[in-house]
Amino acid sequence: MTDGSMNGIRQVYLNGAFLPPAEARVSAFDRGFVFGDGVYEVIPVFGGRLFRLPHHLTRLGNSLREIRMTNPLPADEWRRVFERLVEIQGGGELSIYLQVTRGVAPRDHAFPPNITPTVFAYAQPLKYSPPEELAQGVAAVTAADIRWQRCDIKAIALLANALLRQQAIDQGAAEAILVRDGVVTEGAASNIFVVKSGRLVTAPKGPFILPGITRDLVVEIARANSIACDELPVKIEMLRSADEVWLTSSTKEILPITRIDGQPVGSGKPGPMHARMFALYKEYKQAFIQGKAD
Ligand code: PDD
Repeated sequence: MTDGSMNGIRQVYLNGAFLPPAEARVSAFDRGFVFGDGVYEVIPVFGGRLFRLPHHLTRLGNSLREIRMTNPLPADEWRRVFERLVEIQGGGELSIYLQVTRGVAPRDHAFPPNITPTVFAYAQPLKYSPPEELAQGVAAVTAADIRWQRCDIKAIALLANALLRQQAIDQGAAEAILVRDGVVTEGAASNIFVVKSGRLVTAPKGPFILPGITRDLVVEIARANSIACDELPVKIEMLRSADEVWLTSSTKEILPITRIDGQPVGSGKPGPMHARMFALYKEYKQAFIQGKAD
């Protein structure tokens, strides 16, 4: 694939400039390329507005702090960059990708002094899950969580996640549900919720999961609507006996998982709690698009 045909991306932001994708160039000595030394975010855009931007910027700030980098841009500057990218794409339904790497330096594991970070961002059309996935749910497989112990950092080094997602695809499934010491952590690129006897359960925050913005919103919506929701370790047995299982992410939203390792989840169809939560989520999104929610 050439840079020019990258998913309808008209321009990218690179180190202060807006450029056509084919003109955006980064040194082969960038530590992002050589070491995977950087962090990223994915921010959905609904109705031309940046969904939950402050939450994403807070998480970006946390990721940068944890890898001992200073945030290259203040929040209002990030917003200006994203708004410009949205405008260039013509608004609507998009996802913003941004990454910050430590920058360009001769190869040495230790951080070089006074290095300038590389800042890259673009907006691309948001590809929603096809309606049949929402109507029927998707298949998932379980897999050992082979990642490191700082999964709370949204690191660009995603080799383990890519291997795990591919393992799922190779088995005809959409996502890998990761299991560490008998406990479900999250998906290869999503958080996981189970529904049992009318209660939602999702993994508590900590070093083994990414604190998903969609996860937090689902928890928030549940609590605001008196739906019981626990942030507790989800044992593998609980996953296997769940009435419903969902995955959540900024791009997949809230997607039912109806088969795990070839076995049906509950009835094998998306459940009533998903229908309720998804309706509440869409209501929230609608209010956001109309400027009535953040
Ligand atoms: N991934 N856990 C992991 C490991 C993820 O990569 C993601 C999202 C999530 C969900 O987080 P959020 O709700 O904030 O999107 C959980 C993004 C979408 C990606 O890598 O493309």
